[in-house]
Amino acid sequence: MAGSSAKRFYIKTMGCQMNVYDSEYVAQRLMALGWSPVSEPAEADLIILNTCTVRAKPEHKAATFIGKVSQLKKRRPELVLGVLGCLAQQEGAELLRKFPRVDFVAGPREIQGVINIVRKVRGGERGIVATSLERRPPRTQVFQGYFEGKVSAFITIMQGCDNFCSYCIVPYVRGREVSRPPHEILEETKILIAQGVKEITLLGQNVNSYTFEENGARWDFPDLLKRVSRLTGLKRLRFTTSHPKDLSPRLIQLFGEIDNLCPHIHLPFQAGSNKVLKKMNRKYTREQYIALTEQLRRIRPDIAITSDVMVGFPGETERDFRDTIELVRAIQFDGLFSFKYSDRKGTLATTFDGKVPEEEKARRLQLLQEIQKDITIKKNKALEGKIVEVLVEGESTRGGQQCGRTPTNKIVNFYSNINRVGQLVKVIIEEAFANSLRGTLIEINP
Ligand code: 5AD
Ligand code: SF4
Repeated sequence: MAGSSAKRFYIKTMGCQMNVYDSEYVAQRLMALGWSPVSEPAEADLIILNTCTVRAKPEHKAATFIGKVSQLKKRRPELVLGVLGCLAQQEGAELLRKFPRVDFVAGPREIQGVINIVRKVRGGERGIVATSLERRPPRTQVFQGYFEGKVSAFITIMQGCDNFCSYCIVPYVRGREVSRPPHEILEETKILIAQGVKEITLLGQNVNSYTFEENGARWDFPDLLKRVSRLTGLKRLRFTTSHPKDLSPRLIQLFGEIDNLCPHIHLPFQAGSNKVLKKMNRKYTREQYIALTEQLRRIRPDIAITSDVMVGFPGETERDFRDTIELVRAIQFDGLFSFKYSDRKGTLATTFDGKVPEEEKARRLQLLQEIQKDITIKKNKALEGKIVEVLVEGESTRGGQQCGRTPTNKIVNFYSNINRVGQLVKVIIEEAFANSLRGTLIEINP
């Protein structure tokens, strides 16, 4: 049995890439203090769950996980259990009441304090709740070594959201928008490139709202994107997520100007009906959304457009849902993440009339997903016989193959006798599926 001096940790991450980034930060700090990661919760002396509460489903998953690891703690009381992220922020002390074996909860703006909290818990303190939403820039998180061997990395450039879409909990659990200083972002990117990273994704709930004044100059998102793209050795640059209302002509233009900016944009539309969009407080119409996709394709004809949408928003009629289907058919997304609307505590939409029954939401979701699946497959099939550039990221889950992504963010698997990780290679696509492409390596382009 592990003593209280044993230092093995297990982190499970749910939800978005911001959480992935935060978990990596905590892991790095722990490792710098002599902790080592393990791959099974049962082997750990510290278990951390980084949670998501954007929809009901991840919230249920979190509860299941906490229940399971609480059982481990029953047998090993010295085990430290912590819950981070948006659910921790939302529930705070309530979470400790529901799950009394949890030692601490810490919200997304308390990530920097987690190490201290762990120390306190190991010193005998329990029931720590850290959920301040104080305006505080996301920290710099570069620790030598952690990213070694990694080809692609995320960098948070801003956090929080000021948009208050009526269904969304993010503004409540991640607080107001706050941007990181450009010099920090550039510094972090350079260190990652020096460690072998070839692709950077700039992260924020709404990257288009990025703004920072440094040495008397105001930076906006296009300024930052241009500057980061010029860093030597950066092969690919991406960003996510964009709000359609803030996607400026200047940013669209950059897709035609920056060579290493990948031709892919994730641009959530959420609903195809203007009535629903209004009730969602999205501040754009379906016509404006369609116009944006047209502009993007004019500037960058090969751009892949992916999106988020939800079905069964309160008051969504069959007619409104048809508007969504029509928009999906009209735009022909490369990929679409679709969800059933779920009430989130404290958001405005919970007070709206016309809640759609679960079975009806499920029916709409299934129909929409079938329609999109055909579109995705058709789009992927169009790549058969074409040569694509692949940034190789690692071994494929399909035995013996290597895997990477195209600039448009499609997954490609191929065979190679030698390890190509970190290389940009050319692959001819032989066969397309719904979620990936299979091809043959034809040329190395170091
Ligand atoms: N119910 C269902 N889906 C939601 N999303 C955000 N809030 C809700 C909710 N209350 C979806 C949106 C968002 C994605 C991250 O999750 O589509 O873009
Ligand atoms: Fe939520 Fe809307 Fe902010 Fe996105 S823009 S995080 S959907 S409130």
